[in-house]
Amino acid sequence: SPVPLDASAVLAWYDRHARALPWRVPPRDRARGVAPDPYRIWLSEVMLQQTTIAAVIRYYERFTTLWPTVEDLASAPLDAVLVEWAGLGYYARARNLHACAEAVVARHGGRFPQTAAVLASLPGIGAYTSAAIAAIAEDEPIAVVDGNVERLLARYLALPVPVREAKDLIRAQVQAAVPSRSGDFAQALMDLGATICAPKKALCMLCPLQSGCAGTRTGNPLAFPVRAPK
Ligand code: ADE
Repeated sequence: SPVPLDASAVLAWYDRHARALPWRVPPRDRARGVAPDPYRIWLSEVMLQQTTIAAVIRYYERFTTLWPTVEDLASAPLDAVLVEWAGLGYYARARNLHACAEAVVARHGGRFPQTAAVLASLPGIGAYTSAAIAAIAEDEPIAVVDGNVERLLARYLALPVPVREAKDLIRAQVQAAVPSRSGDFAQALMDLGATICAPKKALCMLCPLQSGCAGTRTGNPLAFPVRAPK
C-alpha cells in the first residue's frame, strides 16, 4: 500500500532548496506574509507552458517592465504583445494572454479572481493554470499537477500503468497531501521534479520523499513512468 506523500518533508526541503525565480516569493518572505501578485504568477505560468524556465526569464522580465499590471497589458495593442512574444512560440498563447487580461479588466475590475473555479472561466486558463494561480497566489488547498509532478508520482508509487491511465489516482494522491502552505508545496513538487526526480536522472539520496518512495525501492526508479504501448 502506498505511503502518503510527506508534505512536511517536502516543505522542509523547499525551505532550504527552493529555486530563486523572478516571479517567485521565497519561502522566508512568504512565511512573513508576502503574497505573490497573481498577475505575475499567471504570466509566468502561461509562458512556462511548453517553454523552459531558462528561455522564459528574459521574456517575463520584459513583459513585467513594459506592462507591470494586468490593466497595462489589457490596454496594450495586441500587435505589441505579439511582437514581444516573438520567439516563445505558440502564438495562440499570446492572443489568449491578451484576451484574458481584457477579461480580468472587463469582468473583474482588474483584480484576478481568487479561486481556481472562477479563474478557470477566463480565456486560456485551464485546469492546470487555474490551480497553479490559486495555490501559489492565494494558498487555496488545491493539487497542482503538471508533467513533472506526474512523473514524480509515477515513480513514488512505482505505478505499473502509464500516466495517462492513472491521472485521477495521481491527482488524488497529491490532493490528499496538500498542506496549508499549498503554494509552496506546489512549487516544491515542481522543483523536485525538475532538479531531483528529473526525466533521465533521479538523485534519490537527496530526495525528501525517499523513505516512502516505491520507485527507488525497486532499484530502478528511471523505469517509471512506464511507457504506453503503441
Ligand atoms: N514550472 C511551471 N511553473 C513552475 C513553478 N511555479 N515553479 C517551478 N517550475 C515551474
